[in-house]
Amino acid sequence: MIEIAPVVVNPLRVRPVVGYQSGVIDRRQSFLERVVALPRLGVGVSTEYGAQLAGGLDVMDLAESAPDHVQFLEVGVEIAKGLDADALAWIDAGRPTTYHFLDVNLDEPDDLGPDWLREVAEVCRQLKPAWLCGDAGMWHFGPRDRNHMLLLPPILTRESATDMAVGIRRLRDATGYEVLPENPPGQVFIGDMTLLEFFAEVCERADTGMLLDCAHLAIYQHLHGRSPLEGLDRFPLERVVELHVAGGTHREHDGFAWIDDDHTTAVSAETWAIFDFAVKHATNLKAVVFECERNQAAATEAGFARLAETLAVDGHMHS
Ligand SMILES: [Fe+2]
Repeated sequence: MIEIAPVVVNPLRVRPVVGYQSGVIDRRQSFLERVVALPRLGVGVSTEYGAQLAGGLDVMDLAESAPDHVQFLEVGVEIAKGLDADALAWIDAGRPTTYHFLDVNLDEPDDLGPDWLREVAEVCRQLKPAWLCGDAGMWHFGPRDRNHMLLLPPILTRESATDMAVGIRRLRDATGYEVLPENPPGQVFIGDMTLLEFFAEVCERADTGMLLDCAHLAIYQHLHGRSPLEGLDRFPLERVVELHVAGGTHREHDGFAWIDDDHTTAVSAETWAIFDFAVKHATNLKAVVFECERNQAAATEAGFARLAETLAVDGHMHS
């Protein structure tokens, strides 16, 4: 049994910020009551610091030329780097955002210290995000440091799910925003639970919603020789608020076949199968991100068209 250290937050140093529409979280309500007040964002794209300068998507340009494709921007935030010029231009234009964290181990109470939380609150003040979300895994090994950044999946045990739920509640209470954990990518998973069992447990214990990354789940299912939809019928899809779709590349190393989550626009049939199923059953779906930030706009057309096709038929976002 893992001991959970007591959470120490100085409430005077971390003032809750007002959310995009719903404001400070009402603790008397359950998540399924609170989710009603979350805004419907539609389809968006993700970005992270310096993405466009590195040859990636010109988000503002695409939003102007194809407004249906970029109704909001998911801003990847590493507090040590801050917001880049593209993110600042987006928020200066008053456009909607979500805050995707890239630097917190939610299952380590010490990682949500007052200094980091204060800076998160400052970024929230600038972004006015609809909610916070991000891969619920290990973003750094050892202390948070620029040289330690990585992304590993969580240990899939009940103890780890309990610790993660504590972190989610703490971040939600400190910021006043919903915190949606995302199933992270990975090639090696440790623990006695399946990925879906683990996140169902996290959502239940934290009483939160979820960001389901369809590509990450497809990689996990493939790795374990499971069909893409296995276990999804038992997953609480009514808690899924946001979906991610991205392309990957099949690779092989020393006889080990794996799928690289490299965010190309070549979305696999397995990822689309998960997406189609989730859209059909996620009755509280508010947002879909096509993670195509490393590509040029022309290469993203087919992916956006395929997203729109499913959303038009089965989507709850327009109902
Ligand atoms: Fe993702």
